[in-house]
Amino acid sequence: MEKIVILTGAGISAESGLGTFRDAGGLWEQHRIEDVATPEGFARDPALVQRFYNARRAAAAEARPNAAHEALGRLQRDYPGEVVLVTQNVDALHEAGGARDVLHMHGELASALCAACGHRWPAPMEMQVKEPCPACDRPAGRPDIVWFGEVPYHMDEIMAHLKDCTLFAAIGTSGEVYPAAGFVQIADIAGAHSVELNLEASSVHSNFAEARLGRATEVVPLWVAELLSGH
Ligand code: APR
Repeated sequence: MEKIVILTGAGISAESGLGTFRDAGGLWEQHRIEDVATPEGFARDPALVQRFYNARRAAAAEARPNAAHEALGRLQRDYPGEVVLVTQNVDALHEAGGARDVLHMHGELASALCAACGHRWPAPMEMQVKEPCPACDRPAGRPDIVWFGEVPYHMDEIMAHLKDCTLFAAIGTSGEVYPAAGFVQIADIAGAHSVELNLEASSVHSNFAEARLGRATEVVPLWVAELLSGH
């Protein structure tokens, strides 16, 4: 039985109005990664970091899933084999587009994490500095986001899926950040076919057997229609 593993990045949510990181004008041109996406940055200036994620949480709450998110929801629902959706994105647009059991390897804006006891709860739209943890009461609430230098979530599960998939697709990701950028090589070793669907060739495009260049809302629905029609 066919098993498809799909990895998505910020590019799939670009047409829903959410900024990517490394495109012109992207988030990493507006903010220094070390200030807003590292544990050190959070320790140094928690107010700046909470403000950064509060703004992203508000933007994500306003955004609507686009045709690419919805196509992947259809694929997961109607494809005869298993479809595993892994995302680097922290928005909830895949779920809003009908996808289920999405593996958010870099965390989620909608979730809050207690740095003291590890408890997770639905994040308030605006998290405060010293946000109290509902479980242990300590003022240690932080965004449930995997920062640079931290270990991505669900890696054992993701690696197991990659090792027995027959098709691997990467959608809307620049291939600049590991371990996600290395997934295609694991799928390749497993004998899977690989396809990159992206606005432009990513840094790891040469590791893919196939490429479909274009905007996600154009190339993803076409790709899904082909898979569902059996060719
Ligand atoms: N359709 C398809 N692809 C697009 C579109 C679009 N409309 N717009 C942009 N892209 C592509 C860009 O060409 C680029 O290759 O999406 C990719 C976005 O790359 P990044 O901004 O680097 O985002 P991503 O790959 O998700 O970053 C990975 O880096 O900063 C960390 O944790 C953060 O999860 C993030 C990780």
